[in-house]
Amino acid sequence: MRALDGKVAVIAGGGTGIGRATAELFAAEGARVVVFGRRAAPLEETVAAIRRAGGDATGVCGDVGREEDVDRLLAATRSAWGGIDVLVNSAAVRLRGPLTEISAADFAEVLRVNLVGAFILTRGVVPLMRERGGGSIVHIGSALGTVAVGQFAPYVASKGGLHQLARAAAVELVPDGIRVNVVAPGTIDTAIGEVVADFRRRLLAHRIPIGRAGVVGDVAQACLYLASDASRYVTGSVLAVDGGWTAS
Ligand SMILES: NC(=O)c1ccc[n+]([C@@H]2O[C@H](COP(=O)([O-])OP(=O)(O)OC[C@H]3O[C@@H](n4cnc5c(N)ncnc54)[C@H](OP(=O)(O)O)[C@@H]3O)[C@@H](O)[C@H]2O)c1
Repeated sequence: MRALDGKVAVIAGGGTGIGRATAELFAAEGARVVVFGRRAAPLEETVAAIRRAGGDATGVCGDVGREEDVDRLLAATRSAWGGIDVLVNSAAVRLRGPLTEISAADFAEVLRVNLVGAFILTRGVVPLMRERGGGSIVHIGSALGTVAVGQFAPYVASKGGLHQLARAAAVELVPDGIRVNVVAPGTIDTAIGEVVADFRRRLLAHRIPIGRAGVVGDVAQACLYLASDASRYVTGSVLAVDGGWTAS
């Protein structure tokens, strides 16, 4: 018996990076997977990789910050596989720049995707998870939801808010049998990481006790634990996957 046999998992941001690695791992562990994101091409690549490996997957295009897109995602998942047991929310954008040069509109756009999107997804899956007698929601937060660095104010604010949203939802959804947790990566080798190579090198040199970046599989394994029944007593937690960064 695999960890997610019989489960249906939605992975927002499942076309690339951490979301893709999580989608592939979950499918290998028996889940039927729906990947969601704005661009069709990366979703198609993830779906093809999962099917090649013998798993079940489908893709839905849309924006996590748009209620109508999330409604369409949930309806498509229900019609394909009857319901939802697991949500992993890996969708996010980041914006680098001095606080004094960021417009209110750009700040709001980061919150719209990273925080309001998380809320829309969470609220949306609750009725479907109730129908199944419970479920597991995993948000990909960040070490920058716990500590701060300069030049990333909207992202830091959005991830701090996301960690607290997850705790609030965890407490409120206990009666529904729905667990809500956060995986908080430090610096992970993905496309998002390459954009901030200098920043990452500094972190590696000074901030990360393990002394290297993580890989997407490190984060996917933490998501698998929180999605599966192995973590049945765990809700409202923020699991750092950061090589010791936030502990140091
Ligand atoms: N890599 C790191 O070092 C690191 C560290 C800490 C936390 N994280 C977090 O890990 C998660 C995954 O990041 P990643 O490193 O794997 O980067 P990534 O490859 O850029 O993943 C982000 C995903 O989010 C999707 N996305 C962005 N805006 C969206 C929207 N409005 N609606 C739906 N989907 C949207 C993107 O697809 P589309 O563009 O096609 O929509 C993409 O697939 C993020 O939450 C990030 O904040 C990453």
